Amino acid sequence: MTITTPSAPLLVARRMPDAVIARARRDFDAVIADHDMNTQELVDAVRAHGFKAILTGKKAALTAADVASLPDTLQIIANPSAGYDHMDVAAAKARGIIVTNAPDALTECTADFAFMLILAACRRASEYERIMRGGWRKSFGQPDMLGKRVNASTLGIVGFGRIGRAVARRARAFDMTVIYNDRARAPAAAEQGAVFEPDFKNLLPRCDILTLHVPGGDGVLMTREAFGLMRKGAVFINAARGSLVDEDALIDALASGHLFAAGLDVFRREPDFDLRFAELPNVFLTPHMASSTVETRDAMGFTALDNIAAVLAGRPPLNPI
Ligand code: DGY
Repeated sequence: MTITTPSAPLLVARRMPDAVIARARRDFDAVIADHDMNTQELVDAVRAHGFKAILTGKKAALTAADVASLPDTLQIIANPSAGYDHMDVAAAKARGIIVTNAPDALTECTADFAFMLILAACRRASEYERIMRGGWRKSFGQPDMLGKRVNASTLGIVGFGRIGRAVARRARAFDMTVIYNDRARAPAAAEQGAVFEPDFKNLLPRCDILTLHVPGGDGVLMTREAFGLMRKGAVFINAARGSLVDEDALIDALASGHLFAAGLDVFRREPDFDLRFAELPNVFLTPHMASSTVETRDAMGFTALDNIAAVLAGRPPLNPI
């Protein structure tokens, strides 16, 4: 990539939707990467051209050592994502570099997607679809290929923040009982009838479907023991982070039939996910796309640009981490 406007304050270091690029060019005369830059490319570019702001993401993971090698010109690292487990935020802050994310932009579409995973996993969407693409030709009788009921079942939500609450709202329309686990109980206005379970281990045997909505970065939550505590025939959903899950234990639970199914959008290794998942018929798999609607991806990019505009104008960021 050749940088032709070295005085530009902003480097957009990853591919973004057209509307976001247009605004970045218009408002900042930004330098726009033609691919998702990796860490070394990003650090080299910022060092060589003295950018004041970068819009970046998980492809350019930033360790404390990477942050230490960034020049003093850099004022803000803006992530258009909600998650920031790909970078050492404390190291950046210690250097006086502001780090922002986009915590609100993707809530509703991510909750839609989590609900899609719930429905698809419980109702065997990928198996039915494969049958149709294979030509069908053999009718199914009353006891064949049965799914698991979603409406009126009990949904366990781990993490009752923005996305967890948005999933709970959808669950109410399905007459589901919602139990949630978080560090503290939410106000009644946010609970809307959801039941607080302060002990994560006590939540596990109480739900038919368990869905994760906590950030990654704090170790493995779904251990072999945790899967063992889930009800036989339960369904596991993850649109949060793959790092939360012991994938060997999850694969064993799915293969043994302890779990009825799983719906997974995130994996410990991405994009090189564990191909054993693809061999299991009772998993509905998607490639980390929960926020991927036109509207949400635009909103995520605009949020990053709003934060950059504020900081470059000497105002406080809107979404500091
Ligand atoms: C997020 O914003 O954290 C989503 O997972 C997309 O990376």
